[in-house]
Amino acid sequence: MTKVLVTGVAGFIGFHVAKTLLKKGEKVIGIDNLNAYYSVELKEARLNKLSVYPNFHFYKEDISSAEAIEKIWKKEGDIEKVVHLAAQAGVRYSLTDPYPYIASNLMGFTVILERCRHQPNFKHLVYASTSSIYGDNKLLPFTEDQQTDSPISLYAATKKANELMAQSYWHLYQFPITGLRLFTVYGPWGRPDMALFKFTKAILDNTPIDVYNNGDMARDYTYVDDIVNGILKALEKPSVPMKTNHHPIYNLGNKKRENLLDFIEVLEKALNKKAVKNFLPLQAGDILETFSDINKAESELGYSPLVPITEGIPKFVNWYHSYYKL
Ligand SMILES: NC(=O)c1ccc[n+]([C@@H]2O[C@H](COP(=O)([O-])OP(=O)(O)OC[C@H]3O[C@@H](n4cnc5c(N)ncnc54)[C@H](O)[C@@H]3O)[C@@H](O)[C@H]2O)c1
Repeated sequence: MTKVLVTGVAGFIGFHVAKTLLKKGEKVIGIDNLNAYYSVELKEARLNKLSVYPNFHFYKEDISSAEAIEKIWKKEGDIEKVVHLAAQAGVRYSLTDPYPYIASNLMGFTVILERCRHQPNFKHLVYASTSSIYGDNKLLPFTEDQQTDSPISLYAATKKANELMAQSYWHLYQFPITGLRLFTVYGPWGRPDMALFKFTKAILDNTPIDVYNNGDMARDYTYVDDIVNGILKALEKPSVPMKTNHHPIYNLGNKKRENLLDFIEVLEKALNKKAVKNFLPLQAGDILETFSDINKAESELGYSPLVPITEGIPKFVNWYHSYYKL
């Protein structure tokens, strides 16, 4: 049985990663501070699902506290694998309240890096970066070797900083680290601040949905099961420090660019209801299009996304109906 620490375990992706590991019979140590950025009830409901597994140990702690993390490490014994997902996510919120991005994404990540580097025989740290770091790059699809030095939101800046911090630890302390640039993840138990969740709620409530840049936007939407698969494939393949100059970084996307208006149409079909659209200009910090090149993850990790939005969106809608009893 492998022991894996999952940070941000009450979050959308952390919950799915933990559930998959527990189903496989692994031991999962989960950390989350259950902050109120979005519904704490939803985070607790995810935790309730995980708590049925005896191999799940949960700690309500903040990753930016080195002492708290140290205590957990001591209590649980040697932790040799970490999937680091705890972060202040969301592009738009970083324009309203920048401080949690600094506390969780910079200080929090430093605490995790420090703890991993002091662990003898540490096996692998896999951490989440984001497609947002490609900023206004015009060359699509995005490949990992493109420049990412011009973030257009503080959220993206903190994630770019994470990649640089990881690189310095890889160089200095030579333990396996892998970075994953995730492209708009969606699916059951998803995040209420993201488009699919907000649109679904608004359409069912008969309120208008905000459609930015008059709908002229595109995203590479990746179904959560595909992302979990990619994260776990990466975890199983520890990078070898100093074999290459840079720690490995992979795009995990669906290698498909979906127009926002087409995405809304698939959702309308799944809900069997038309949206009332409130067309608005582009929001500051937002990227116009994301589109992943995943050749590297396909060839080196065996990553292969399987779920198109025509399957994934109805799965989300089914979950939404059953969770909210609608
Ligand atoms: N969902 C996406 O589309 C997407 C895309 C790119 C990258 N990512 C990254 O993937 C990771 C997971 O994203 P998600 O969508 O599951 O977000 P989420 O907000 O649902 O999950 C993050 C979890 O981390 C917890 N957390 C935040 N700060 C913490 C702290 N200081 N200490 C302890 N716990 C803390 C939150 O309570 C939350 O439960 C994040 O790093 C995010 O930036 C997500």
